[in-house]
Amino acid sequence: MTDILIKNVYIIDPDNSTDGLGDIFIKNGVFADPETAEGNVEIINGSGMKAAPGLVDLHVHLRDPGQTDKEDIISGCRAAAAGGVTSLLAMPNTDPAADDPEIIKYVKEKAKDADARVYVVASITKGLQGREATDVDELYKAGADALSDDGKPVLDTSIMAEAMKSAARLGIPVMAHCEDPYLAGGKVNEGEISEKLGVKGMPAAAEDVGTAREIALARAYDVPVHICHVSTKTSVDMIREAKNSGVKVTAETAPHYLMLTEEELLKKDADYRMNPPLRTEQDRQALIEALKDGTIDAIATDHAPHTPLEKADFESAPNGAIGMETSFAAAYTVLVKGGVMSESELIRKMSSNAARILDIPAGTMYIGSPADLFLYKEEEWTVDPDKLHGKSKNTPFKGITMAAKVKMTICSGRVVYRDE
Ligand code: DOR
Repeated sequence: MTDILIKNVYIIDPDNSTDGLGDIFIKNGVFADPETAEGNVEIINGSGMKAAPGLVDLHVHLRDPGQTDKEDIISGCRAAAAGGVTSLLAMPNTDPAADDPEIIKYVKEKAKDADARVYVVASITKGLQGREATDVDELYKAGADALSDDGKPVLDTSIMAEAMKSAARLGIPVMAHCEDPYLAGGKVNEGEISEKLGVKGMPAAAEDVGTAREIALARAYDVPVHICHVSTKTSVDMIREAKNSGVKVTAETAPHYLMLTEEELLKKDADYRMNPPLRTEQDRQALIEALKDGTIDAIATDHAPHTPLEKADFESAPNGAIGMETSFAAAYTVLVKGGVMSESELIRKMSSNAARILDIPAGTMYIGSPADLFLYKEEEWTVDPDKLHGKSKNTPFKGITMAAKVKMTICSGRVVYRDE
């Protein structure tokens, strides 16, 4: 592997209190002192660009095994690299589900050749059916990095409580997909838009009931819980109150909830349908405020690839949108260009905060740590689904002009993406 020296680049490394011009040297896959660069070194001119720690995406569906027409481990990691993501957490709703040590081992083994680091979530119940607990200790021994039934809530509350206690004992997070299945099941957010479209709505209360349950369990047993893809103001308010009263709760939201609202659904295009659904402007504003005040810790994508054929029919299409290639650009556009937070604060939400939740060695550029980083530029570009790198094209950001562009991604000292 050739050593790399990036010269004259603006470095933003929030956990290292770095925010200024400098050089970055990568030797044998780790960050090294630029003063020591010598010999056969690839020189990259970083002027006009910014460098940040590789992003950590806590919420990704890689579809492998079983649904590799939508995405696979290699293609998903290619998409990650194109978005500046160097570590990702793969959700367990594969086919079969990640409820067996062999699946965990399979994903980890295949990911060794991929363009990003893959961490794996094991399911809490067998087949994600919500009724029979998996053997969490065996899954952990096989390499599971987190627990979740994501895609679905854990139906049986007592199993969720036990999973949270086991995860606390093992030192891994539980990623909670908050949804009351009896209230949920619609196509778009319940309200004005679902009425206009004449389709069944997914009420905000379906998510909020789930959020309330997971917070209640975390509070009762004094164990951590991570709330996935927060999309409602009420959930934000509950998480804020819980944090303030000492509950060990962390939370993420996704770029689509920050940039888009339920109004998009009037286009009757299934690329805007996901679960939880795009909500109201009031919810969107509450999420932005929650990121600003620290109620929401991280931005994750819920990258959920589906084929064009599956997405062709507005009402019968499965829920989900891809997001890794556009997450930084979209979050930058809304939050940095929009004057909500600094670049450094945004990068923290997308790298070191997420790394801390997962407890992985990522999210900073300390000398000696794995050389995961990305370079970006403030540059306008318009999202064209056909130019994206993953297998599926179901992006709700199509046609939107973004204010920043990922130019290069380096994972473990290897250049895994270059914007030509
Ligand atoms: O929209 C979604 N798609 N939400 C989920 O929770 C699951 C995901 C998927 O796997 O497609």
